Amino acid sequence: MDLHQLAEQALAAHFEQAVGAHAPPRLVAAMRHAVFSGGARIRPQLCTAVAHACGMNAPHLTQAAGVAIELMHCASLVHDDMPAFDNADTRRGRPSVHKAYGEALALLTGDGLIVMAYQVLLNAGKTHPDRLIALMQTISDAVGVPDGIVAGQAWECEPRADLSQYQRAKTGALFVAATCAGAESAGADPLPWRALGDCLGEAYQVADDIRDVIGQSADLGKPAGQDAQHGRPSVAHELGLSGAIGYFENLIDRAVDAVPHVASADKLRQIVRMESERLVPSSVCQSYKTAANASSLQH
Ligand code: IPE
Ligand code: IPE
Ligand code: MG
Ligand code: MG
Repeated sequence: MDLHQLAEQALAAHFEQAVGAHAPPRLVAAMRHAVFSGGARIRPQLCTAVAHACGMNAPHLTQAAGVAIELMHCASLVHDDMPAFDNADTRRGRPSVHKAYGEALALLTGDGLIVMAYQVLLNAGKTHPDRLIALMQTISDAVGVPDGIVAGQAWECEPRADLSQYQRAKTGALFVAATCAGAESAGADPLPWRALGDCLGEAYQVADDIRDVIGQSADLGKPAGQDAQHGRPSVAHELGLSGAIGYFENLIDRAVDAVPHVASADKLRQIVRMESERLVPSSVCQSYKTAANASSLQH
């Protein structure tokens, strides 16, 4: 089974166990819609890959940590799409949760998934209390205040925001949690894994900014052009497209270099390169750089 299938299977098993049999049916349907809708599952895959590299000796805890992180991510997308934030009608190629189930259930879906993330972690962590405490801290830091998703989204409500701080909080922090949680779930020191999560996470949001400008809604599965429409800080707007692509490639190189010297380092570097290619194909990078060179020669 590959890492994606493993993540999908773990999510389904933990979700079914946590949701129970007698919850309000429309809420459960909305929560399912939010989670089982074809996400890339990159965060749990990263968590498991790092745990492997650290000699994964508590696979159930590793899976639970990856599931908790993915549930947090799905919750953040549900809230992010709501009219108070990005007012997006589609997500992962389907109606966003508030479009399909209404705003009240979308709000509760996000809340329910955040709490479920902690429930999944608590249930799996009873046999490893020290690791559980470390995982709770890591994941809470990634979603809360001052440096996690809540803070990141809140920078949109301030008159001024530092672009890198905004991006690392709203997106990068959960990638840091994914790499660090992978190590912690295996009883290893998370510190050597922070830089990989930090660089890959920032690269992810820079890629999202680029795709928001050059992508089509049908391919993205969510509305394109959102950042300009809502006046969001964006690397593509701040540096221009070719500048943003250069910045993205640099972050990917840094992520590759940040992989610690472990036995499975090549596999991890390959995951980073494959994600880079999936997000912004190198042929696309090349064509924008060629166009930028041609226009600078003309001036
Ligand atoms: C989308 O994340 C939002 C950002 C943080 C850029 P993903 O690109 O991981 O979305 P899914 O989970 O595959 O839908
Ligand atoms: C991504 O924000 C981060 C969170 C959802 C917390 P964006 O608003 O940039 O992501 P998309 O483009 O809607 O996926
Ligand atoms: Mg947003
Ligand atoms: Mg959005």
